[in-house]
Amino acid sequence: PLDFAPGDLRTAAIPYVYEPVLRDEAATAAEQLVAAATAEGIALTAQSSYRSYASQQRVYAGWVAQLGQQAADLTSARPGHSEHQTGLSIDFSAVPASCTLDQCFAETPQGRWLAENAWRFGFHLRYPEGVTPVTGYEFEPWHYRYVGLELAAELREAGIRTLEEFFGLPAAPDYAG
Ligand code: DAL
Ligand code: ZN
Repeated sequence: PLDFAPGDLRTAAIPYVYEPVLRDEAATAAEQLVAAATAEGIALTAQSSYRSYASQQRVYAGWVAQLGQQAADLTSARPGHSEHQTGLSIDFSAVPASCTLDQCFAETPQGRWLAENAWRFGFHLRYPEGVTPVTGYEFEPWHYRYVGLELAAELREAGIRTLEEFFGLPAAPDYAG
């Protein structure tokens, strides 16, 4: 159902801007990731994590008001279609704040560290650069999806950058279906 909510959400014990709510396994992985980053002098915070159908409705409506629907659809999922509603996705940002939810986050120490290391904790960069026709979304160097250790390592090893390619799926916002 479009208003699906996972049953095992909890608050991850990591620094945050907005309360970092994720499914239990993803929360544990995020805690391990942030601990490892911290140990290497990389300060991360959780910008956005679980969003209910209603909160995605507000986020999406905000983007439509700001950008118009066509541009909003490249940057925000419509309610009922966001990975954030699965409780498996998290948007990271840097401490101190730098390039928050901006493509230049990729060039920050935090963005670089995530690109290099997130897979070790089961996280996958979900909307990579230069593959908008494949994912349906613009580059989001801050958005990571928990896919589990095994799949994250397999994607890394095979050099497969998107879940669409791995599972043979069409671009994500397939609203016609
Ligand atoms: N920004 C991503 C695509 C979302 O809204 O889920
Ligand atoms: Zn996101």
